[in-house]
Amino acid sequence: MDDLVVFVNGKKITVSKADPEVTLAHFLRDKCGLKGTKIGCNEGGCGACTVMVSHYDRKSAKPIHYAVNSCLLSLAWLHGKAVTTVEGVGNTATKLHPIQSKLANSHGTQCGFCSPGMVMSMYALLRNEPRPTQQQIENCLIGNYCRCTGYRPIIDGFYEFSSASPCALGQNCCKNQGNTADATNAADTTNAASNTVGELSPDYLQDYIFPPELKVKDYHSAEKCYKGERVTWYQPASVARLLELKAQFPKAKVVCAQGVGNNLSAPLQDSTIISTSNIQELSGLREATPNGIQIGSATTISQFWNILSDMVEQLPESQSALYKTILADVRPRFACRQVINVASLVGNLLIPVGQSDLTPVCVAAGAVLSLRSVNKSRSLLVTDKLFPADRKSFLADDEVVESLFFPHSAQGEFIRFYKQGDRKSVTNSIVNAAYRVQFTDSKVSAMSIVYGGLPFGMAKAFPQTSQSLIGREWNEKLLEEGVARLTAELNSATSDLKSPDSLTSYQKTLVTSLFYKFYSDVAEKLSTGKFPEVGQYTAIKGKQLYDDSPVATSSEVSAASHCFKPVPHRSADLHVTGEATYVDDMPPYADELHMAVVYSEVAHAKIVSIDTSEAINALGVRGYVSAEDVPGSNVCGLIGEERVFYNEKVESVGQILGGIVADTLQHAQIAAGLVKVEYEKLPAILTIKV
Ligand SMILES: Cc1cc2nc3c(=O)[nH]c(=O)nc-3n(C[C@H](O)[C@H](O)[C@H](O)COP(=O)(O)OP(=O)(O)OC[C@H]3O[C@@H](n4cnc5c(N)ncnc54)[C@H](O)[C@@H]3O)c2cc1C
Ligand code: FES
Ligand code: FES
Repeated sequence: MDDLVVFVNGKKITVSKADPEVTLAHFLRDKCGLKGTKIGCNEGGCGACTVMVSHYDRKSAKPIHYAVNSCLLSLAWLHGKAVTTVEGVGNTATKLHPIQSKLANSHGTQCGFCSPGMVMSMYALLRNEPRPTQQQIENCLIGNYCRCTGYRPIIDGFYEFSSASPCALGQNCCKNQGNTADATNAADTTNAASNTVGELSPDYLQDYIFPPELKVKDYHSAEKCYKGERVTWYQPASVARLLELKAQFPKAKVVCAQGVGNNLSAPLQDSTIISTSNIQELSGLREATPNGIQIGSATTISQFWNILSDMVEQLPESQSALYKTILADVRPRFACRQVINVASLVGNLLIPVGQSDLTPVCVAAGAVLSLRSVNKSRSLLVTDKLFPADRKSFLADDEVVESLFFPHSAQGEFIRFYKQGDRKSVTNSIVNAAYRVQFTDSKVSAMSIVYGGLPFGMAKAFPQTSQSLIGREWNEKLLEEGVARLTAELNSATSDLKSPDSLTSYQKTLVTSLFYKFYSDVAEKLSTGKFPEVGQYTAIKGKQLYDDSPVATSSEVSAASHCFKPVPHRSADLHVTGEATYVDDMPPYADELHMAVVYSEVAHAKIVSIDTSEAINALGVRGYVSAEDVPGSNVCGLIGEERVFYNEKVESVGQILGGIVADTLQHAQIAAGLVKVEYEKLPAILTIKV
C-alpha cells in the first residue's frame, strides 16, 4: 500500500499504513499527540474539531486555506495537504496569536472546550481575509457551538479584527484618543464590556508558511491506494482511471471527501471507496456556454458559490436569476463553512441520509446530470423521480456523475427557494421549496413547484398544480386556485404513502404557506421590479455595565488593580491555545479500553430485550457493561430519579442502556451500533404533572 504524506503545523509526516477509517481528528489527537483539537459531536455539527487545511491549487498557482471539521474527514483524503491546528497558531510558552489573546481577553472562554475550534475558524478566515467584515466574522463562526460562554464575548473579541472594529468604549475608544496602547491601561475600562480594545497589530510572523515542498511537488498527480481493516480507499488522478476503478469495483462508493467520516459509527456496507477529490478535470467550472454552466462533480459547495458569484457579475440580470437565488436564498440557510469547504455539489444532490437543499432547486431549474461509465455516457434531466423515498440510486453500478449542468435563466423567469428548519442554517429542512415561474405577455407560460423534506423522497414536484396555473395572470384568483390544487395534489400523494402519518400537519401547512410566500414575493417583484428584502444584516451588539461606585479610594483601587474591572480568568490562555487538559486528553494507561454507550432510541418504553450477541463478536470487543455489572446501587440522581444504566424502562431518547467495551474507540462505536434493543412502547408523556 502507498505511503501518505501530510504536513502538520509545518512538519512533514509520512504515514506508512494509513487506515482510511481513521479520521483526521483522531490522527491529530492519537498519532500526533495534538490534543488541542477537541472532539465534541463527532458528526460535523459542533465545530470543536475545526482545523485549517491548505493545499496548492495548480490552476490558480496559489495555496488555498480553509477550515474543516476534522472529525468528518478521512486521513486518506489528506495526502499532499497541510494541516494547521491550534497548537500551530500560538502557545503560552512562546507567544499567543492575536486571535488567541483577543478571545482570552474578551472573556470568550468559560469551560474552553469550544475555544480551539473558534480560534481555528477565525484563523482560517484571517488567512483569506486579513480585514474581514463583521458579517464575515459571524458567518465563519456559524458552525462553532459554544454551550457555556455565550457568543457575545467571543464575537466582541473577534470583531476587533474587522474593518469596522467597534469598541465597547464608543467615542472614548483609545483609538479615537490617538492612544494605541492596550486599553487595560485606560482609566475608564471599568465601564467597558471588553478590555481588549486597541490597535490591532496581528503578529503574522507566527503563521507557518505554506510548505514549499507542496508547491514544487505535485502529490496529487499520482494515483494512491490506502488499505485499512475494513476499507480500501482509491484516490485516482484522472477520470479515465476513476471509470476503470468503478468498473472493477461496481459496489464501490464514489465520494469526494466526506464519505467515510459520515458513516464512521455505522458498519460500512462497502469496503471500497473511490475518492474524486484529486481529479482536476472534475473540479470547478468545466464549461460556460451561452446557455448555461457545466460544473465538475468534485466541485465543493464553497467553490460552487464562488462560480455563481462570478456568473452573476458576468451575465445580464435576465440570465442570472437562478444563480442569484441560489446565492441569496440557499447559501445563507445552508451548512457551515467547515462543511461546505469539503462537501461536494454532487454529493449534496445524492446525499444518502438527511435532506439536501440543492436537490429541489436542481429539479425546479431543470439541471442536467452527465453520467459516465467506461463504455457509455448519458445525460439525465434532474427530476423528482430520481430521488424516491427509499433513496434507491438511479446510477448503474459502473456509473459515476461527471458533471452537473445549470441552464441560465430566461427573460421573464423568476425563481425562489425557501427553507423551514429547526433553525436558520446548518440544519435539515422540515420543508424546503423551490419555485420557478416564467411569464410571457404578463401570463404564466411555465411553472415548477418542488418541495423537499417531505416523506415522498428528497424532492417532490407538483406537476398538476403547476400545469393548472399556466396561462393565468398573477393575481389572488391564481393564489386561491394554486392553494386548492396544491392541497388536493398533496392529499392524493399522501394517500399513496405506506404510512400517511409520516407527513405531519406542520409540513402540510408549510406546503401551502411557502407557496403563499412565493406568490406574494413574485407579486412584489412584478409591481416594484424587486423581490422584498428580508433579514437585512445588522451586526450583533451587546453591552455589559460594571458597578464602578466609589467604595474605595483611588489609591486603594490602583493597589488592588484587579478590582472594578473585568479580568480574564487564569485558564483562558490555556483554553485558547488548546493546552488545557480535559479527561479525554489524558494519556492512556497501557492496554486501556474504550467504551461506546448504547442509547435508548425511543422516548417512553419498556425494555423487552437487549441482544448483544452480534456486537460481542465484533472486532476488538471485550464485553458489554450494563445495570447487572454495577457493583452498588444502579439508582442515582438527586431524588433517585435516574439510573446508571437503564434496564427496565426508558423515559426519554438518549438514556444510557449499557456500553460496549473494546480495544479502540472506533471498534467500540462500531459494535455499539450492532446492539439490538426491543422495546414495548408506552403512551407518550405529555404533561409534567406526576
Ligand atoms: C453539520 C452538517 C450540516 C449540514 N447542513 C446542511 C444543510 O443545511 N443543507 C444541506 O443541503 N446539506 C447540509 N449538509 C450536507 C452537506 O452539505 C453534504 O452534502 C453532505 O455532508 C454530503 O457530503 P459530501 O458532499 O462530501 O458527499 P459524499 O459523502 O462524498 O457523497 C454523498 C453521496 O453522493 C455520492 N457521490 C458523490 N460524488 C459522486 C460521483 N461523482 N458519482 C457518483 N456518486 C457520487 C456518494 O456515493 C454518496 O452516496 C450538512 C452536513 C453536515 C455534516
Ligand atoms: S466534533 Fe463536532 S464537528 Fe467535529
Ligand atoms: S462550550 Fe464554549 S466555553 Fe464552554
